[in-house]
Amino acid sequence: MKKSALAVFICAFACAFAFAVTDAPQKIIKLKTPQFANAKSLMTSFGERKSVREFADVQLSEQVLSDLLWAAIGVNRPDGRRTAPTAMNRQEIDVYACLKEGAYLYNAGKNQLELVSKQDCRLIGAPITLLIVGDTAKNSERWAIFDAGAVSQNISLFCAGTGLATVPRGQMPAEDLKKMLKLKDSRQIIINHPVGYPKTKVQDKDIN
Ligand SMILES: Cc1cc2nc3c(=O)[nH]c(=O)nc-3n(C[C@H](O)[C@H](O)[C@H](O)COP(=O)(O)O)c2cc1C
Repeated sequence: MKKSALAVFICAFACAFAFAVTDAPQKIIKLKTPQFANAKSLMTSFGERKSVREFADVQLSEQVLSDLLWAAIGVNRPDGRRTAPTAMNRQEIDVYACLKEGAYLYNAGKNQLELVSKQDCRLIGAPITLLIVGDTAKNSERWAIFDAGAVSQNISLFCAGTGLATVPRGQMPAEDLKKMLKLKDSRQIIINHPVGYPKTKVQDKDIN
């Protein structure tokens, strides 16, 4: 084999290997420490909160994803309590982040995402979808639904305050998602939040 042909062969093999490695979902994604500087004021966020159902084809940075999850249900005190309350502090709510490469459980204590499925569970074209899951073995269904609402509103206000778009949605293929996430029977997906940047008028014009 000529030297140039050998070089092309080696390069092609190396590139294929590199793509195979980067395409595989990471088992653990270490999240960043939340940043407090860039959000709008709470009152402005209330003023701008709304449901948005169309998303730009733009990914969230690692920092924005980390901030979003922390705002949703991160640990905000040394005793392990969270940004969202739970009845009797049972902490029965979990948030799963559906990314393109797979679905992850948000481990708030370790501030990391843990792979639970390599399937793409994202909904309505958003770059990520958060699934709010309640465990009725830890708290009653009534309180789990109530507590999920607090997490949902944290997500909506975070999005309003940082220029992201989201909508709380009850509509979803709950049983299929439950299988994908390998959830035990006591765990229910209560609500989903597709999250991304809003699709702007300019993009609409460009597409049409
Ligand atoms: C519990 C709950 C479930 C919802 N389910 C859906 C849904 O399945 N699909 C959807 O498009 N919007 C859903 N929404 C969003 C509402 O339609 C929306 O909040 C309402 O129209 C008011 O609009 P706003 O959020 O912009 O104020 C839901 C909202 C809540 C609070």
